[in-house]
Amino acid sequence: MAGLIVVVFAVALLGGTRGQLRKPLLEPKSEDECKHGPYPLIFDNDANCDDMLALLYLAGNPDFDLKAITVEADGMGTPSSGPSNMAAVAALEGKGDVPVAFGHKESLSPINTMPLQWRIEVDAFIEKMYPGGPNGTILEMHPNHLSAMSAPELIVQVLRESRCPVVVLTTGPVMNLVVALDAHPSAAANIKAVFMMGSAYGVPGTNNVYDWQMEFNGVLGSCAEAAFQTYTGLPPPIVESYGKVQVRRGCRGLSMTESGDTECNVFMDVRAWKMTYNFLNKWGHKVYVLAANATINMPVNMATMEEGAASLNNKRLQVFVVELAKAFRGAGETKWWDAHCAVMMAGVLFGIDAAGSGACANWARSKRTSVNTVWRSHLHDGEKLPYGQIKDDPDADAPLVDYCLMGNPTSMQEEYWEKVNNIKSTGRKLTPNDNYVTGVQTTNFLSKDSLVMSS
Ligand SMILES: *[C@@H]1O[C@H](CO)[C@@H](O)[C@H](O)[C@H]1NC(C)=O
Ligand SMILES: *[C@@H]1O[C@H](CO)[C@@H](O)[C@H](O)[C@H]1NC(C)=O
Repeated sequence: MAGLIVVVFAVALLGGTRGQLRKPLLEPKSEDECKHGPYPLIFDNDANCDDMLALLYLAGNPDFDLKAITVEADGMGTPSSGPSNMAAVAALEGKGDVPVAFGHKESLSPINTMPLQWRIEVDAFIEKMYPGGPNGTILEMHPNHLSAMSAPELIVQVLRESRCPVVVLTTGPVMNLVVALDAHPSAAANIKAVFMMGSAYGVPGTNNVYDWQMEFNGVLGSCAEAAFQTYTGLPPPIVESYGKVQVRRGCRGLSMTESGDTECNVFMDVRAWKMTYNFLNKWGHKVYVLAANATINMPVNMATMEEGAASLNNKRLQVFVVELAKAFRGAGETKWWDAHCAVMMAGVLFGIDAAGSGACANWARSKRTSVNTVWRSHLHDGEKLPYGQIKDDPDADAPLVDYCLMGNPTSMQEEYWEKVNNIKSTGRKLTPNDNYVTGVQTTNFLSKDSLVMSS
């Protein structure tokens, strides 16, 4: 801890004005020394169930050296519990020493929130895994692993201190990264590549922001003029202007199911996506995005999850994975999204992708794209809402992005469970009192049939 304080102090001393290039604290390693990995990694996420699945994969993959887990506050995880949930999951995977930071509080372009009820259900799932839960002790609380720094500050610190360029994986609305780079643009110099989960780029009709997400328990308000101030799921309906104006139906009067042409992570913070592209354009870093279509045929279903769990040699992980699948499936549409993005990332970085057998089966390469921030409430027949669209645009202030448009479920599943099974240390030793319910049957590892999924 003393070391950390000294380092922080040194950063402050070297600081100077905002955005200036600072002297690295440690001599960077040569390109050759950094070439083969393990690559330092920042995992920025929104603490949903698929982020937890992604974390399992990252923890089991020795090619990554996880430096920070930064939690978005405007995605699925609650701002209060998302970070401690991720800290507990990291500890289960032997990564309890990785700092976990609370995210920047609000979207930079608030328009929508995930229904509060769904977010609380993620917390309820994690709580069930703590000592005394129905499955015995699966997770332990690790509040001391929460960083004293905010997510953007932690991102900057990792970028500044790393002796090799850092890989950044973001699987939520990219707000933390963008707040970090807005305050310290030069920190981006030490990024190796950025991998992002989101957008409905490239394939018409892959919008996944729906009207039914705007309402919970019959109460509107997930999408409103004043977004984050109106995320209550409780009656009575939200009324503005002394009872005269009710929150409009749908999303500011539009049906997102019919008119949307975007994806949840982008929609949560359209401006953050736009700014991320703007900032990264200056550096020529490679950016890879897993678009919504790529995971369209990869739902998280119980058959796959139970088979995957059965292939694991760690009981606590087995129970965790099966229970996570149940909790995740309770919240409507559930896909491998973030975990798929993590596996795609490894495929790109370690040449599996180049060999044609990665988790991405079809790429739209080197696309310069703009992020549309214009809202229009009156659309012609069949016209889509521009807000949140990402389209080809040669004039965009954006880097060349490789978009993954189609997944390869078979290689995704094989690679995923193989790496998760590497996880060795899971905190304290099991005791007889842990009282595991061992309902998980050992079956053959992932028959191909289990990968044909219903939608
Ligand atoms: C966890 O506990 C519940 C309640 O006892 C049980 O139904 C479930 O099968 C258990 N899960 C696993 C994966 O053993
Ligand atoms: C979108 O995904 C589906 C399902 O995997 C696939 O059949 C289709 O070819 C994909 N589209 C593109 C453009 O890759």
